[in-house]
Parts: sequence; C-alpha cells; structure tokens
Amino acid sequence: MKIVVTGALGHIGSRLIRKLPLSFPNSNIILIDNLLTQRYCSLFDLPKEGKFAFFEKDIVNQNIRHLFENSSVVIHLAAITDATRSFENALEFENNNFKATKIIADICFEKKIPLLTLSSTSVYGSQEKIVDENCEVSDLNPQSPYAEIKLKEENHLRKLYEKQGLMFSSLRFGTIFGTSPGMRFHTAVNKFCWQAVSGSPLTVWKTALNQKRPYLDLDDAVNSIVFFIKQNIFNGEVYNIVTCNATVKEIIDCIRNNIEQLEIQFVESKIMNQLSYNVSNKKIKSLGFKFEGNLEKGIFETIKLIENLNFKNKLGLYE
Ligand SMILES: NC(=O)c1ccc[n+]([C@@H]2O[C@H](COP(=O)([O-])OP(=O)(O)OC[C@H]3O[C@@H](n4cnc5c(N)ncnc54)[C@H](O)[C@@H]3O)[C@@H](O)[C@H]2O)c1
Repeated sequence: MKIVVTGALGHIGSRLIRKLPLSFPNSNIILIDNLLTQRYCSLFDLPKEGKFAFFEKDIVNQNIRHLFENSSVVIHLAAITDATRSFENALEFENNNFKATKIIADICFEKKIPLLTLSSTSVYGSQEKIVDENCEVSDLNPQSPYAEIKLKEENHLRKLYEKQGLMFSSLRFGTIFGTSPGMRFHTAVNKFCWQAVSGSPLTVWKTALNQKRPYLDLDDAVNSIVFFIKQNIFNGEVYNIVTCNATVKEIIDCIRNNIEQLEIQFVESKIMNQLSYNVSNKKIKSLGFKFEGNLEKGIFETIKLIENLNFKNKLGLYE
C-alpha cells in the first residue's frame, strides 16, 4: 500500500506518520511538506519499521503529480492554519489553502485515488444549539477567513463528488489538544499549558470563559484517519471529529489540577464572537468509531512534556 500525506510535518501529521506504519505495516509512506513552518524536527527519529520518503515540495507552486502514482490513499493536511492571522491575510490563505486542496482533489480524481481532507468545526461558527452535519447551510456561520475557506473547500469537493465521482470524505476536526513531535502552541489548550508551566498569565479572550467549543484529542484525531481508511469510507460526506465540547473554564480547571497557582488575563481577539458552539460527534460514532481521549489526560501529558524542558522555576525561563 502507498499512502501520501501532505502537510506531513505539521502538528497532526507528525503524530499521524508515526502511527501509519503500525496501522498499515509495510506501506510506503510519502511525506510532502514545503517546510513553511520549519518543522524539520518532525522528521527526526521516525520509526524504523516505516518505509518513508520525504519530499520538500510546495503543492501550489511545484509539480507533485508524479509522487501520487499508484497510491492507495491521500491524506491532505497541508494548510496555513493560524486562524487569527487569516483576518489580515485572507488572500494568502485562499491562495495557499483553497488552491492546494483544489490541486490535490484534481490529482486524486485523475488518478482515481481516495482522498481524506481536513476541514474544521470552525465552519459552524456561533450556534445556539448542539449542531451536527445535517444542519442547514444557512446555519453554517464561519467567523474567520480561515473557516470560510474550509467551507469553500468542502463545497468544491462535494461538487467534484456529485459531478465526477471524486472519492473523498472531509473530516471537520475540533481544536486539537495533545502532544506531537511537530507540536504547535497557538491553539487554546496547548497555549494555556505553556503559559501555566512558564508562570505567565493565561491569556483568555474576553467573553470566552463560559462558552463551549469543540476539542479533539490528537490520538482520537489520528485514530479517526486510520478508521476512515480501514473502513474505506469515501462517500463524499463530512464528519465531525470531536472528543468533547468544553468551556475555557473547564480547561483551566483541568490545568489547575496540575498547577495550582494560575493567573488569568483577559484579552481582546478578532475571532472572539465565534466561541460558543457545541458540536455533535454522533455521526462518526454511529459508524462504530470510539473516542478514547479526554482533556484531563491530554493536559497532563502536555504539562509533563513542557516540564521536562526543565524550566528552572514557575516564574519564567532560566534567570
Ligand atoms: N490543529 C488543529 O487544531 C486543527 C483543527 C481543525 C482542523 N485542522 C486542519 O488539519 C490540517 C493539519 O493541521 P495541523 O494542525 O497539523 O497544521 P500545521 O500548521 O501544524 O501543519 C500544516 C503543515 O502544512 C504545510 N504546508 C502548508 N502549506 C503547504 C503547501 N502549499 N505545500 C506543502 N505543505 C504545506 C506546513 O509546512 C505545515 O507543516 C489543516 O488542514 C488544518 O486546517 C487543524
């Protein structure tokens, strides 16, 4: 089996590529990444049992078609992912994220390869009730250019499925928590853990404290990708992949179980009003997928990882 992973060195990819040789032994695993975010470290100490080949390639600006020859599946993770930055740089996000997805979809269609793409629960935006994949299009309310582009990608892929039979499923991931070799710290849980361990105030968006948002344990994220491939689900649909919905207060309480003294600082953010929404994961569960992660464990492991960096004290880095 040949598996192509784009954006393979990112936060999610760097964990996924370590799981794939265990789930699909003897597979050839093609890693594509343009090193935009410089995560060389994701390539260090890859498991010996994996048959990896890494290609430093930009999906939008370089020819990558030949890398997909005879592939069994493509997992498309490559994107610029800092949603807050997308307000000032919407065109850059569109030119990279939408174009990359379009190119990958074209290649998969042409070569008849099943495609798993990553969307985001941020396509829902602010919602009163718990939302699922069947909600009205008018109920989708993305609140950032990043999320709008995710929705545009989903719609593009759906059209290709309906008109031409592209085999794909799109996974709407909640905000990831949990550790990985190419870990990022700009999403809520990881950022708070970093701030807590280094003794800095936790920077919480004003109004966010008691609003719910969907979160996804990185183990569940990776397992869901393996699940879709093993079950061969490429039916042109979207699936919410969410371990739990939680408020910022609940996240902070979990961190406080590990680090008692926390200071909270309320800050402004452009992305603030999209915060309250509660996303159902019943659709993927009804297919037999089991979520095994939880916030307590994810936060504990993240804090332990950072503490191992040997901060001298809880007030900052080395004096
Ligand atoms: N992390 C989350 O909380 C989260 C939540 C929902 C959805 N997602 C989606 O999951 C996917 C992976 O996210 P992540 O957290 O691993 O992101 P990440 O930013 O850590 O990794 C993305 C990788 O894509 C690469 N990349 C970007 N543009 C590229 C291009 N044109 N050509 C080749 N490589 C390119 C980057 O160098 C980076 O290594 C993204 O589509 C993201 O939108 C992530």
